[in-house]
Amino acid sequence: MTMLTGKARIAGVMGWPVGHSRSPRLHGFWLAQHRIDGAYVPLAVPPARFEQAARALAALGFAGANVTLPHKQAALAVADTVELRARRIGAVNTLVVREDGTLAGDNTDGYGFIANLRQGAPDFAPERGAAVVLGAGGSARAVVAALLDAGVPELRLLNRTRARAEELASAVGGNVTVVDWTERSESLAGAALLVNTTTLGMSGQPPLALDLGLLPPGALVTDIVYAPLRTDLLERASRRGNRTVDGLGMLLHQARPGFAAWFGVMPEVTPELRRVMEAP
Ligand SMILES: NC(=O)c1ccc[n+]([C@@H]2O[C@H](COP(=O)([O-])OP(=O)(O)OC[C@H]3O[C@@H](n4cnc5c(N)ncnc54)[C@H](OP(=O)(O)O)[C@@H]3O)[C@@H](O)[C@H]2O)c1
Repeated sequence: MTMLTGKARIAGVMGWPVGHSRSPRLHGFWLAQHRIDGAYVPLAVPPARFEQAARALAALGFAGANVTLPHKQAALAVADTVELRARRIGAVNTLVVREDGTLAGDNTDGYGFIANLRQGAPDFAPERGAAVVLGAGGSARAVVAALLDAGVPELRLLNRTRARAEELASAVGGNVTVVDWTERSESLAGAALLVNTTTLGMSGQPPLALDLGLLPPGALVTDIVYAPLRTDLLERASRRGNRTVDGLGMLLHQARPGFAAWFGVMPEVTPELRRVMEAP
């Protein structure tokens, strides 16, 4: 472990609870790898004190912080300036303290999602075909916006609660067609990309009931659920010959812009980092 000096740069993750967060391990790995005089600490902040805590970052000399559940909307409200992509998603997950003490807010989830696809399937070209996105929860917003920005020509959005999908579609704009959840297997016909953003397939949750029969063999399949790493969906897709990308990379890539802003180095997602993060 690197010894800290009095000049160490400090960042952290604000959440409630925060004990389960893997971000300290992730940033700790990069800090050690780059021998940076800095630390990244868990910050357990109850909702009622979030604003006070966020304002205190500048007063305490923090470089910034990640923001996780349940503070992502509150962080949007507290930030002095907010990147367009974060405003579109309606949530901030990265705060950077500027030299004048103001807080800049960003949301890097969509960036992480696309960067993970680019690393896991380098020849995948989003503009070449339709994408099917399952789910319209918090993370779906970032995924849908990022896919549209990446040039996906047609996006089919399906959610158990249809109204949520319709709300998301109108919030992000672009060529999004809402399809009924009951038609999810049929919606795969002709798709170039299938994304699961629901909690189905996560440990402790039921698997995703989806017939992959109509999915073209050349389609890419990705699951943002990363526990387990190989979800039932990814297993079934690879067994029938589809390329797959797991969700851990999204978590790792979304952390890179924050690290770069706080510590001055753009870190990489390497197999070694993945091994460290997969360890219990
Ligand atoms: N890889 C990463 O970096 C990353 C980042 C963020 C999240 N995630 C993972 O992504 C998953 C979703 O997170 P989130 O924050 O978006 O969750 P969320 O806001 O709670 O949304 C949950 C989604 O799952 C759907 N769902 C839940 N139970 C269902 C069921 N029985 N049948 C059909 N649909 C069901 C919900 O549909 P309704 O609207 O109908 O309830 C909703 O679309 C989690 O597993 C999370 O760990 C991964």
